[in-house]
Amino acid sequence: MTVKTMQTAEVKDLLEKVAGFNKEGGNERVKKIVHRLMHDIFQIVEDFDVTPDEFWQAVYYVNELGQNGEAALLAPGLGMDKYLDIRLDAEDEQAGLAGGTPRTIEGPLYVAGAPKTEAFARMDDGSDENAEIMILTGQVTDEDGQPLANAVVDVWHADTKGAYSYFDQSQSEYNLRRRIVTDENGRYTARSIIPSGYGCPPEGSTQQLLNLLGRHGNRPAHIHFFVSKPGYKHLTTQINLAGDEYTYDDFAFATREELVVDANRVEDSAKSEAFGLNKPFTEVEFNVQLVSTDKPELQTRHERKRALEGEVA
Ligand code: DHB
Ligand code: FE
Repeated sequence: MTVKTMQTAEVKDLLEKVAGFNKEGGNERVKKIVHRLMHDIFQIVEDFDVTPDEFWQAVYYVNELGQNGEAALLAPGLGMDKYLDIRLDAEDEQAGLAGGTPRTIEGPLYVAGAPKTEAFARMDDGSDENAEIMILTGQVTDEDGQPLANAVVDVWHADTKGAYSYFDQSQSEYNLRRRIVTDENGRYTARSIIPSGYGCPPEGSTQQLLNLLGRHGNRPAHIHFFVSKPGYKHLTTQINLAGDEYTYDDFAFATREELVVDANRVEDSAKSEAFGLNKPFTEVEFNVQLVSTDKPELQTRHERKRALEGEVA
């Protein structure tokens, strides 16, 4: 039984009242967006003949999603973060600001205020003695390949279980999170550990929906970066390590060809000694090109609620 009611005066009038069109005050933009949003939801109910049972399941799903703190995890799983990136790329293209290292999604697990050092940082707290040592290094340049000194490379990644400090309270403060200021040659180096990929909580709300879509909730091993310097477009990006089962099958759609990086095992003991190591390690190189801009609003990361943002320098 499919009934059609969307075109009736009664429903049109209801939607206008829902969105406050007949009231003074409020926010015009919010009114218009809520009007469209509720119209489209009503239309889905009509087109798919959504039953009251199904509707209330969805309402309580949203409740649980919030209770689990997973709204910012479901969003990338549904391609929202990727879609916003596609729009930003198109805007850059239109403004003549394309080029440089490509952006990709931030993800929900950044924590502001990581320790800041010059040129080099040790990122791991040494507690995982079985982890593979990673030397992560690279150069930040402008589009002409000129080195950029004093750029801030803000790096964060997961541990060997795919878990992030702060969100995983068993890790030490700011473990695997550092800000490194590039040296006079634009170079940065970090000693850390090779991360594992991330998986959505198996019993969580995000995974529950992904299951209904026949999808997994896994990300490949990856490393996040914010790279910034006054006079240049702020860059939010990540690298995905080549060879991971999920390198090209990321549930959050963050992989870009230019951001897939080889991890190279180094067994030459002289090279280990140069880093003060007494065993082989894995080297990951990521060079970054920033695009210059005089627009201040493009030189900082966009605003969003982030852990400790505003509470630490
Ligand atoms: C997401 C992103 C991450 O970088 C991560 O480690 C986990 C989840 C996400 O976009 O949902
Ligand atoms: Fe991540």
